[in-house]
Amino acid sequence: MAKLLHNEFPPGSLHAKDLEYVLHPTTNLAAHLENGPTVTARAEGVYIYDDNGKQYLEGMAGLWCTALGYGEEELIRVATEQMRKLSYSQLFAGRTNEPSVLLAEKLCNMVPMENARAFFGLSGSDANDTQVKLMRYYNNARGKPEKKKIIARNRGYHGVTLASGSLTGLPAFHKHFDLPIDGILHTDAPHYYRGHRPGESEPQFVNRLVSNLEKMIHREGADTIAAFIAEPVPGAGGVIVPPEGYYEKVQGLLSAHDILFIDDEVINGFGRLGEPFGATAMGIKPDTMSFAKAISSAYLPMSAVTVPEFLFETLVDASRELGNFGHGFTYSGHPVCAAVALRTLEIYEERDLYAHAAKISVPFQAGLQSFAGDDLVGEARGKGLIGAIELVANKETGEPFSPTAGVGAYCAAAAQRRGLIVRNLGDSLAFCPPIIIDDSHVNEMFDKFRGALDDTTQWAREQKLQTS
Ligand SMILES: Cc1ncc(COP(=O)(O)O)c(C=O)c1O
Repeated sequence: MAKLLHNEFPPGSLHAKDLEYVLHPTTNLAAHLENGPTVTARAEGVYIYDDNGKQYLEGMAGLWCTALGYGEEELIRVATEQMRKLSYSQLFAGRTNEPSVLLAEKLCNMVPMENARAFFGLSGSDANDTQVKLMRYYNNARGKPEKKKIIARNRGYHGVTLASGSLTGLPAFHKHFDLPIDGILHTDAPHYYRGHRPGESEPQFVNRLVSNLEKMIHREGADTIAAFIAEPVPGAGGVIVPPEGYYEKVQGLLSAHDILFIDDEVINGFGRLGEPFGATAMGIKPDTMSFAKAISSAYLPMSAVTVPEFLFETLVDASRELGNFGHGFTYSGHPVCAAVALRTLEIYEERDLYAHAAKISVPFQAGLQSFAGDDLVGEARGKGLIGAIELVANKETGEPFSPTAGVGAYCAAAAQRRGLIVRNLGDSLAFCPPIIIDDSHVNEMFDKFRGALDDTTQWAREQKLQTS
């Protein structure tokens, strides 16, 4: 049977081969067959280049991950040297290697957690999968086999495996996959702009969300709930900055019911919010933490979960009975990935990049806010070096555009035409540039976005999409 191909690219071209051979992740597959791929050919600093040599300012740090930008020679050197010295070794059965030990030491001494220990994987999804498995294992081992459920949030994003995809609170990641699996619950997204009732103040909104969470805990029974998982500032669900007081109240409620707080730092970690960790920036005291993306600035795949002493001790006790702690990946503690991650964390400190992120976030956030008055903009929001601009059909009421109108997608494509990469999450345009950006890049980013937004406004008018 002939392959399903709709587009005519020169046979043998990269475009044609992409359409012939690649099953793309998180892509509208039908539209892709029509439109063909965009080829990223090379990258340097905060710019990427397509196969025609066109330059784009990277407004999304890849997929929220390339904190140090591209072509960082120091990481290339470390990877090359480590690959020559020890290209692979494992952490199973008590074996170890220097880069993994030193990375674990570095990370465990950074996290806001006493006597932490680190478990390594390769992706944010596997880190959160590990979290779900740890919660089961821990509660079985401590004689509370009923205490297994995990509460996640609508519009949270925690990955795509069976367990982490279940934690993710976005319907597109559940449909047709028979997700979520049993035992995963979802509570409200802490987004005041989209979630508040008419006349409801921010504190009232927070109280309602906390009360809903409390009702869920009572309905399910606290003794059936192991943990609550949250990104301090949720990213892929639209970049949501929870209101003042939200985490304090949530955390009080969780502590009262012996429910652990799993902190997903996969986007927030390592400077994104202007501090090493999103948890501290948002006033959260995490029980366990997940890391990926900026831990290695995406030069190589690496993830980590850090656990506190009490959890580790329970695992050790269980091991006395069961033997093996039966969880781990072939590439857990891959020495080349670990060496690159360790050097990445050192570079953040040597170059004072957490302070830089905090400083550059001031013009960055001001740039986002400069669009708040636009007709098409319902909300401009953000914290640190992450933000979003939400486009709406009616500025006064906040009425969204019809999802089929594709206004966010139009705006992202307009930005791309102007040499800027931003990502549309529905009709919210997300910004998450590499942490190394400077003032001139921030200006360039928002100048280009100004053009893209004007293009979109004109198009929306022509299409008569606005209702105000
Ligand atoms: C907060 C968060 N957690 C987990 C993940 C999943 O990470 P990965 O795509 O590396 O599996 C992501 C990915 O965007 C994320 O944003």
